[in-house]
Amino acid sequence: MQYRQLGNTGLKISVIGLGCSRLSQSVFEEKKVDVFSLLDCAIDFGINFFDTADSYGYGGSEEILGKSFGGRRDKAIIATKVGYLPSSLARFGKYLIPVISPIRPLLRKKKKSLKGHSKKRQSFDIKHLKKALEGSLRRLRTDYIDLYQLHSPPKEVLQNEDEEVFDFLNRIKKEGKIRFFGISLNEVEDGIICLKRKNISSFQIAFNFIDDEAQHVLFPNLNPDIGIIARIPFARGLLTEKKEVLTGFHDVDPQKNKKIKQKLDSIQLEATKKEKGVSEVATEFILNHPEVTTAIIGTRSIEHLKANLKAFS
Ligand SMILES: NC(=O)c1ccc[n+]([C@@H]2O[C@H](COP(=O)([O-])OP(=O)(O)OC[C@H]3O[C@@H](n4cnc5c(N)ncnc54)[C@H](OP(=O)(O)O)[C@@H]3O)[C@@H](O)[C@H]2O)c1
Repeated sequence: MQYRQLGNTGLKISVIGLGCSRLSQSVFEEKKVDVFSLLDCAIDFGINFFDTADSYGYGGSEEILGKSFGGRRDKAIIATKVGYLPSSLARFGKYLIPVISPIRPLLRKKKKSLKGHSKKRQSFDIKHLKKALEGSLRRLRTDYIDLYQLHSPPKEVLQNEDEEVFDFLNRIKKEGKIRFFGISLNEVEDGIICLKRKNISSFQIAFNFIDDEAQHVLFPNLNPDIGIIARIPFARGLLTEKKEVLTGFHDVDPQKNKKIKQKLDSIQLEATKKEKGVSEVATEFILNHPEVTTAIIGTRSIEHLKANLKAFS
């Protein structure tokens, strides 16, 4: 495994990180995955960077990381996020998993219509941020978070003139509850807005072979003190051998989108020429940009994790 320093933090991060948004089981899934073996396997392969959020699995993802790394905290650099509020339906959904099994196939069909009900809302209110931080520390079974990220904040928060949110982040950093803070950006322009701010250690942004806007808009203007965390490196599965997108993201259907179709054809051509896999070329594309510290791959499969790392090594 190779490691790169995240901005000016001094943290040496594996160039492949694990995206943990799907670690905890969703109500729509029947198949159980041994996520603890997945995390052990990641550590064995030299992965030390784990990206989660308090909202992933309604706290479930953080709980799993806490159970796995609570007793070996030094092995993992944990990045979590704050800013989303679960809807009441979603909050209860978590507890319904054990009793819901018989109607799961029916629920999956209904997922699209349920989407509106489970729409998450955001809050960057200080009262909420304080409470959320304590919740994350408790679930992660730790007394410090390595990287605390604002989760897709709207522009008003980034431009906020009274500086409340950033004062809060600086305060909890001083108190030692977080080591560094960063922003998970909604879009590249939001990064430009933040460039004048001091103390931001990272930007997390969608960056992959299809969605490559960051390299044109953000990277040339980037302050080297800020590290880039590339999320959605496989365009949610499109840039892998299975070429299927995660459910719930039909907006990126290559049959309906000409640009995506062209990009997929071009990466396939490159992979064939280089005698490599599509996911390997997709990973190379990201890591060939020195601005990128790590690509956080979202997988729940040990087999896929191994394949991704083998291809990369
Ligand atoms: N706003 C935000 O802050 C935000 C938004 C989105 C994502 N994120 C972060 O980015 C991470 C990654 O995003 P993502 O999971 O949505 O997208 P992704 O990493 O681009 O793609 C994940 C998909 O690729 C599949 N996959 C991975 N390796 C594979 C392989 N070797 N062969 C075949 N399929 C493979 C996975 O399926 P399997 O599970 O079957 O391997 C899954 O369907 C998230 O976990 C999260 O940490 C942050």
